[in-house]
Amino acid sequence: MIQMFHVSKTYPNKIVALTNINLEIPSGEFVFLSGPSGSGKSTLLRILFGMERPTSGEVIIHGMRITHPRFKKIHHLRRIIGFISQDFKLLRDRTVWENVALALEVVGCPPQEIKKKVGEILLRVGLQERGRDSILSLSAGEQQRVIIARALVNQPLLILADEPTGILDTRMKEEMMGLLLDFHQNGTTILLATQDRELLQKFPYRVIPLQGGRRMDIIEEEVQEEG
Ligand SMILES: Nc1ncnc2c1ncn2[C@@H]1O[C@H](COP(=O)(O)OP(=O)(O)O)[C@@H](O)[C@H]1O
Ligand SMILES: [Mg+2]
Repeated sequence: MIQMFHVSKTYPNKIVALTNINLEIPSGEFVFLSGPSGSGKSTLLRILFGMERPTSGEVIIHGMRITHPRFKKIHHLRRIIGFISQDFKLLRDRTVWENVALALEVVGCPPQEIKKKVGEILLRVGLQERGRDSILSLSAGEQQRVIIARALVNQPLLILADEPTGILDTRMKEEMMGLLLDFHQNGTTILLATQDRELLQKFPYRVIPLQGGRRMDIIEEEVQEEG
């Protein structure tokens, strides 16, 4: 589902966010991307979502070489990926239903299908009674569930989750993980960035550790200079 070859990213301000990242995540796997703040987790996820271009290297997602200079299928890419991020704000003057439906409207989904899919996902995240309510009337935890519903309403093949449990208490963390595990059991590939050690200890999935923009589990061959 995901392949990265020698991916590096330097921002225009000269900050090096990623250095020579190689990784491969097969379809259906659940993988944690761990690392302290500033280690490059969000940059890596944004590259996979096509929000950021790597400075060098290749990225292939679901058979699409998204780093190809003439790659034009960004809409297709967005359609197969659900991105859960606290950086994406809800529209506070709209209802729960409208916020979730918007994710389908922007990819040109027909109205009948929108109705069906929004109904289903709201049921799944336990907000079926709240569709008509404004975002402002929801608790922080309920708002988080709207963010999840919006990311997952299109039944993505791949879920990218950027510190999705960061602001949640223990009970809500478990709810969030329950939802993601549901999707995982249905075959969805999941890449979850986190610095939450509890999460990493609790779930038996592969961990890709990042630090300073490098993978810490792969020793790169380095030419040792002597003298
Ligand atoms: N848009 C940006 N412009 C410039 N520097 C950035 C930008 N986004 C992130 N950085 C820098 O890149 C490095 C990696 O950041 P980030 O990918 O957000 O890591 P993490 O998500 O692990 O905290 C940090 O030094 C950060 O300051
Ligand atoms: Mg981050």
